[in-house]
Amino acid sequence: MSSMVAERIGLFYGVGVGPGDPELLTLKALRIIKAAGAIAVPISKEGIRAEQSRALKVVGQEADLAGTELLELFLPMTKDASVLESSRTIAAGKVAERLSSGIDVAFITIGDPMLYSTFSYLVPLVQKLVPEAGMHVVPGVSSVNAAAAASSVPLAESGEKVLVVPAAYSIEELKRWIEEFDTVVLMKIFRKVDELVELLTASGCAKRTVFVSKVGWPDEVVVTDISRLEVAEHDYFSMLIVRRG
Ligand SMILES: C[S@@+](CC[C@H](N)C(=O)[O-])C[C@H]1O[C@@H](n2cnc3c(N)ncnc32)[C@H](O)[C@@H]1O
Repeated sequence: MSSMVAERIGLFYGVGVGPGDPELLTLKALRIIKAAGAIAVPISKEGIRAEQSRALKVVGQEADLAGTELLELFLPMTKDASVLESSRTIAAGKVAERLSSGIDVAFITIGDPMLYSTFSYLVPLVQKLVPEAGMHVVPGVSSVNAAAAASSVPLAESGEKVLVVPAAYSIEELKRWIEEFDTVVLMKIFRKVDELVELLTASGCAKRTVFVSKVGWPDEVVVTDISRLEVAEHDYFSMLIVRRG
């Protein structure tokens, strides 16, 4: 009889931790995070440590991570394709190394891992390096859902159409979006807030646009008439929801 035992390969999880309120962390997310040997923490700016990550702060309120490796993955927010490729390749290599050693890795992400998260870019790269590793996604409460709840704005009713866009990429299409869709969710609005507010006000949408920032955090901001928006309220974790009048 052969005495060969297959080496265990770790599992790679993309875990959504919700928008920031630890009560919106799912039971499943918590279970997977507590059991993982390594927590992969995406870091978008150089010099930032895992402990400063919003996703990790959410998790840290509910789970004791002493003894768990915090695997920092530098994944900068840039449009430079070569920087994106090299940072993702390095990050995938770090994950693959743990998986090959039999360690389960939980990549934590704010909101849901399948909505504008670097997790989905890493999956094929990790799969290429460790084809035997299993991949699992644990959905999280998206900031879109949390913002709609915080502002009591229904995203859609009956046959309505919803558009979710990363506004920073193509702001010039705003007019068409608000004409074609009943609800337009503008994400990634940071640095474009003033321009967007100006355009929406000029289009007569100010009173039916809500600004939601840091939803689920103690300093959450909800402004229901964007003409009252102050510069101090701008934050990367912000969005605008425009409803048809
Ligand atoms: C890279 S995307 C991540 C989306 C995330 N995966 C999700 O499901 O919510 C980042 C954008 O999500 C939005 N966002 C994330 N968390 C937020 C929060 N707590 N409050 C308001 N907007 C948030 C902002 O528009 C931000 O620019």
